[in-house]
Amino acid sequence: MSSVVIHEYRIPIKGVGRKIIYHFSDTHITEYDALSDENERLCAIEDTREWEGLRLGFARDHGASWDERQLVSAGEHLKNLLSAAGDGDAVVLAGDICDNMSGANLRFLNSALGELSVPFVAVCGNHERAEEFPDGMHFSGMKKPVQVADLGDVILFGIDNARRQISAEQNRALLEVLAYGKPVIVVMHVPVRTEGNAEKFEICGEYFQLNHSKASAEVYEFIDIIKENSGKIAAVLAGHLHFADNSEIAPGVMQYVSDQGILGNLNRYVIGE
Ligand SMILES: [Fe+2]
Ligand SMILES: [Fe+2]
Repeated sequence: MSSVVIHEYRIPIKGVGRKIIYHFSDTHITEYDALSDENERLCAIEDTREWEGLRLGFARDHGASWDERQLVSAGEHLKNLLSAAGDGDAVVLAGDICDNMSGANLRFLNSALGELSVPFVAVCGNHERAEEFPDGMHFSGMKKPVQVADLGDVILFGIDNARRQISAEQNRALLEVLAYGKPVIVVMHVPVRTEGNAEKFEICGEYFQLNHSKASAEVYEFIDIIKENSGKIAAVLAGHLHFADNSEIAPGVMQYVSDQGILGNLNRYVIGE
């Protein structure tokens, strides 16, 4: 029996051929392996224990149901999520895939992504650090402040906002991609507080939102770019909350926040005509 729980959505986009996009986040893997030293092994065991409690705490606090099948390890969830997503046209990993940047976590992630035979965009979460991802690995795209995956008639645009910041260069890159004229799906870790989710954010706190009270002008510029280009931006895919939340950033631009991957949640979007 699978540990994966699929949440289905439909995103109609004019002029785009039918495609399946999968999206998950927040698996928080805490691995150790034969190459780990004693400290890495003990930290992984301790972090695993902590997340076994935390994941159920998030589910309880946000009214998400779960069953026994979802209680496999974070590493097993990551493998199962990627395996389930393998029949799509692209996969989006919206951050906090690793709980920390340990050697064992990076080896595990690299090996898991190596099995994937479809295009993917993986962005950093706040538990990951772009500068510490080595070059030449399957996940090395996570080093970049922006990533572009052209699926032919639609573009996935990954943007690293893991530190709840956006740079002027990142905004420029988004404008450049929008100028191609193809519909764009934005991928990032930290979601935007919207009118629709403002009440939930009041309870969660500023740590969970991109447009927090001390956010820079560039963050607000980024949100304005999304609003001003609502006809071109097909969706925004995010994570970080550890509960599902879907709300509009602008009319017609839905932000989908995936529920926690560490309980096997996987969003499946049928996009296009
Ligand atoms: Fe997380
Ligand atoms: Fe996060």
